Amino acid sequence: VRKVRTHHLREMKERGEPITMLTSYDMYTAQIFDEAGIDLLLVGDSASNNVFGNETSLPVTVDELLPLTRAVARSTKRAMVVGDLPFGSYQASPEQGYLTAVRFMKEGGAHCVKLEGGAEMAPVIRKCVEGGIPVIAHIGFTPQSEHALGGYRVQGRGDAAERVLADARAVQEAGAFAVVMEMVQADVAAQVTADLAIPTIGIGGGNGCDGQVLVWTDAFGIRTGKMPRFVKQYADVRSVLLDGAKAYRDDVKARTFPGPEHSF
Ligand code: KIV
Ligand code: NA
Repeated sequence: VRKVRTHHLREMKERGEPITMLTSYDMYTAQIFDEAGIDLLLVGDSASNNVFGNETSLPVTVDELLPLTRAVARSTKRAMVVGDLPFGSYQASPEQGYLTAVRFMKEGGAHCVKLEGGAEMAPVIRKCVEGGIPVIAHIGFTPQSEHALGGYRVQGRGDAAERVLADARAVQEAGAFAVVMEMVQADVAAQVTADLAIPTIGIGGGNGCDGQVLVWTDAFGIRTGKMPRFVKQYADVRSVLLDGAKAYRDDVKARTFPGPEHSF
């Protein structure tokens, strides 16, 4: 199998072939999503609230994300593995960002990194790219800035459309090879996609982006509760596991497991 490279993504944009991305935090989901032909696997800082039990993405650390990144990288043959720089690990300076990104490449085995922010993050992106690390930018709604942005809100409404476009151009200019656009009004996201040479990957960015990304625990029904509007549920893994766990429990309680065929 041919590994997905940054130039393939650029070629897909040029051909008009949509790019697929899912989060993954462990060996088995990485193997499954890789086999399914998903182009990019993001070891998101969303592991904070999907693996580590936190309420938001803010508390997760580099030291927590690195082993998950390594597990996904080891379990992938084709997909490009994206290390997601967590809150506080790159915003202080380009040097801090570069050194953190290096850890994701060396210790995590990532093939590139993702970081949140637009024009203000251009120096950090440039430093990483000059140091040989491919970068995916992330603009629009950026969850690490939830408190600064005043909660989960669609970005790019009205006058703010100019800001999204300016951020997109700035990260492209700084050397990012792709950009995630989260909760950006669909017409604005489509306009940005037409304007940029690099691929755009939407989450709540409508159907006009070059690709799409979803958090796997949302897409396949592991997480419960109210989902954001941009989530489509493709499977109900939670009820499969719940039914399996209950059947196992009932068997053991009834002494119908293990049977002779499971015994020595
Ligand atoms: O951490 C994450 O899951 C993400 C996606 C929502 C793009 O950054
Ligand atoms: Na993230």
